[in-house]
Amino acid sequence: MILDGKQIASEIRAELREQVCETKARGLRIPKLAVVIVGHNPASETYVANKIKACEEIGIEAERIALEDSVSEQQLLEVVHQLNNDPSVDGFIVQLPLPEHIAETTILSAIDYRKDVDGLTPENVGRTVQGLPSLVSATPRGIRELLARYNIVTEGKHVVVIGRSNIVGKPIAMLLMQRPYLSLPGMSAASLGDATVTICHSKTRDLAAICRTADIIIVAAGSPKLLTADMVKEGAVVIDVGINRMDDPASPRGYRLVGDVDYEHVAPKAAYISPVPGGVGPMTIVSLLQNTLQAYNEHIR
Ligand code: GUN
Repeated sequence: MILDGKQIASEIRAELREQVCETKARGLRIPKLAVVIVGHNPASETYVANKIKACEEIGIEAERIALEDSVSEQQLLEVVHQLNNDPSVDGFIVQLPLPEHIAETTILSAIDYRKDVDGLTPENVGRTVQGLPSLVSATPRGIRELLARYNIVTEGKHVVVIGRSNIVGKPIAMLLMQRPYLSLPGMSAASLGDATVTICHSKTRDLAAICRTADIIIVAAGSPKLLTADMVKEGAVVIDVGINRMDDPASPRGYRLVGDVDYEHVAPKAAYISPVPGGVGPMTIVSLLQNTLQAYNEHIR
């Protein structure tokens, strides 16, 4: 069965639109997200455009703050401080990657964790680990929501995560191993957590053998067709987080998007599988909207 992130995301957007309408009807301030983009990375430009469009569609105000590649770390820090102190901004993100001369950790650490709708500050990561109320980064939040909406139980299951990034691998592993009573505000009621999680990465020995023991495999490695059919147990759940651009002269854009899973051969063995595009991607964007409303609801009080 296909995990239809596009469909689920559109259902969630309708729910969020309703929430924003109610807020407006009560005469309250409109929620606002700011997105900082540095330079002209084509993938980043597309992601940011999609995020802003998604905000506007549900009635959240969105501001794009574009800075040139030449911006200094100090100048970017000043923008972060301004956004931290701007009472009209409920949440903001600094789109990654940043140019080489800017230290990502310095910038992320400067973001006020209450406005960190990307869930990437050390404060939010630490709070998530300890099960405190936090903003969880968008892709892990979206994966968790996708599993919940398809009633996929994780309790006692062996989840194999491929990839150890701060943005996906580490946080999704943490969320799925948590005790469910630590579930986070604004998430679906289905209790997710209590899984036994193995995190694999580029130095893991015999990845295929480990994957074959998995009930759920989450692939976030950024490597096209990394997960092949021989690595997947019959009836496993497969979540593909990869978004890789492959040259394709036949496509109008000159490229097409492929995931980290050899979809054609893995899909027949999987009980559930998320496609690329239309799986995790739309869930990530909707999670950013959920995080913005979460930040707004806590900010407005
Ligand atoms: N670059 C790729 N994905 C993301 C994301 O979710 N947030 C930010 N800030 N940058 C990204």
